[in-house]
Amino acid sequence: MKVISSITELQHELANFDKEQVALVPTMGCLHEGHISLIQKAKRLADIVVVSIYVNPLQFGANEDLDNYPRTLEADIVACENEGVDFIFHPQNLYPEHGIQVGLHVDSLSQGLCGASRQGHFDGVVTVVNILFNIVQPQLAIFGEKDFQQLTIIQRMASDLHMPVEVIGAETVREEDGLAKSSRNTYLNAEQRTQAREISIALSLMQQAVAESLSLEDTLEIALAHLKKFGIQAEYLEICYTDSLQPAQSLDTDKPLRALIAAKVGSTRLIDNMPLCPTSAAKPNPEDNPLCA
Ligand code: PAF
Repeated sequence: MKVISSITELQHELANFDKEQVALVPTMGCLHEGHISLIQKAKRLADIVVVSIYVNPLQFGANEDLDNYPRTLEADIVACENEGVDFIFHPQNLYPEHGIQVGLHVDSLSQGLCGASRQGHFDGVVTVVNILFNIVQPQLAIFGEKDFQQLTIIQRMASDLHMPVEVIGAETVREEDGLAKSSRNTYLNAEQRTQAREISIALSLMQQAVAESLSLEDTLEIALAHLKKFGIQAEYLEICYTDSLQPAQSLDTDKPLRALIAAKVGSTRLIDNMPLCPTSAAKPNPEDNPLCA
């Protein structure tokens, strides 16, 4: 495995691979089991795996603490080495010295959910991912479903802009009690850690309610009441169409749906999501609708 910070050096190395499939796993470092599962998926699907580690200033808001974002390069290098990663790309800076003049903008897909409280965040994400795609020119790129809005937006970027890369989602990795793995879980104390699992339980309750043909309103109410019972205030709790991320009007639909939650536990903001399968969308063959499998 090579750890490379220079763009030209990385491109020089990658020029040696002509027929091989290259997969990129973009990260901001502080790698945990969720990232490892992305790397493992990349290893299964491609010949060469590049993991980028870059804390992207463009996706942090003025009130978000870029300087305190955890940086654990030494441990990240060991984790990547153990997984058989070929290259770590760890640039010092990806932007011109006096700031970037031209970036990408996301329209309505970025306006709800996490985008509502993080103005400009997804513009920063797509701009840096576009830069990384241009540098690495991967055939595949892997992103976690845990950041479902991010995954949807990046898939849409690749399709809207005809990028020659397949953007692949990887299932959320969970703790035994269901809590989605996240670097932020380390900020939780023991009591908050117990409380935090109720977010995934609320999502499972929504899956159950939908499978039992309850209405949209009742399904949302069950999850809200559950979070409230455990003292968790949701920043958002929504059922959205998977493609547009617009709030669903009804559960009587054959469009794929997703339940999504963001909530603060103590001062730690956690997000999670799960697919929903209304009975009206159930197909005799689950392969026709993998979200309902
Ligand atoms: O999910 C992340 O860690 C970041 O948003 C990403 C995709 C690496 C872009 O900086």
